[in-house]
Amino acid sequence: MAVLEVRDLEVSFGPIKILRGVSFDLDAGETLGVVGESGCGKSMTGFAVMGMLQAPGKISAGSIKLEGTELVGMPEKQIRNIRGDRIALVMQDPFTSLNPMMRIGDQIGEAFILHQGMHKKEAWAKAVEMLEKVGVPDPQGAARKFPHQMSGGQRQRVVIAIAFACKPEVLIADEPTTALDVTTQAQILRLIRDLQETNGTAVMLISHDVGAIASISQKIAVFYGGQIVEHGPAERVLRHASMPYTRALLNALPHAGMTRLESIAGYPPDFSNLPKGCAFSPRCPLRFEKCESAPPLVSLEAGHKAACWRAEEVLNMPDGKMLAREAVEHPLP
Ligand SMILES: Nc1ncnc2c1ncn2[C@@H]1O[C@H](COP(=O)(O)OP(=O)(O)O)[C@@H](O)[C@H]1O
Ligand SMILES: [Mg+2]
Repeated sequence: MAVLEVRDLEVSFGPIKILRGVSFDLDAGETLGVVGESGCGKSMTGFAVMGMLQAPGKISAGSIKLEGTELVGMPEKQIRNIRGDRIALVMQDPFTSLNPMMRIGDQIGEAFILHQGMHKKEAWAKAVEMLEKVGVPDPQGAARKFPHQMSGGQRQRVVIAIAFACKPEVLIADEPTTALDVTTQAQILRLIRDLQETNGTAVMLISHDVGAIASISQKIAVFYGGQIVEHGPAERVLRHASMPYTRALLNALPHAGMTRLESIAGYPPDFSNLPKGCAFSPRCPLRFEKCESAPPLVSLEAGHKAACWRAEEVLNMPDGKMLAREAVEHPLP
């Protein structure tokens, strides 16, 4: 059984539907990379799983099961016990996730006090132990510091220490490296992967950076307009992308020998005025009449699925060619 099972999830803000039937599974020890342009619903999915949607946003349909237990509709008091214990969150900006007025040791210790009923002294010792585990130098001294006395990379290590304190079954990492410099990014990704392996945690790694996703994910889900439009084993999705949008995303990646950056022509859809049928169709060079009705996620092979009427055809297209005609080209600086 999957540790986390999300089925037909819908999130609405009043009459506007943002998530429109999102389904995926997370297995123990597995990383699902979630990619897609800004505004496509990646964070919304993470917040829904955490039970942290801000009103008027709410889950309007679907199911989220943790080890078979339904989280949708669970009373807030019960969710609070799960959050930070069985499901943890790491966000982009470690500064906003930490309390500026509280010593690092107390902030990590809080997780042990809250979820494991430890006393203050014991929790502080565990906090120091966690700081050592996440590779913060001089853990004793670091525990006495306040967030502003640390670098961005060290602060993110602290956030990760808090997230892994209770050995969560599921970790939602939402753009965990986006605010960091490139060297630190790689270190933080490696840290998440190492802790995940030790704890058998299922990780949902959200990033607009396909490179970061490709480096540690076994599965990939591509989001577009509040839906998963391609999903499957990372290697299949990266090498045999079968949804034109995924091809466009991959073509937009910088790679060795390239002389210009390509971005995807057009704009992401407006949720209050979605195109008829396939939400990507107005930007898609392969659109035809049938795209006026929404394509289902069709199974290709080896658990690989794509939501495109022409998925089989796209699957067999040579790389790079397809979207060149309509891609907007920018010279590299
Ligand atoms: N408070 C809100 N009220 C209405 N719509 C919102 C709100 N917050 C986010 N949205 C919409 O939800 C969409 C998905 O947002 P989000 O999940 O944060 O995207 P991302 O994929 O960049 O993480 C956005 O396009 C935005 O229009
Ligand atoms: Mg986001």
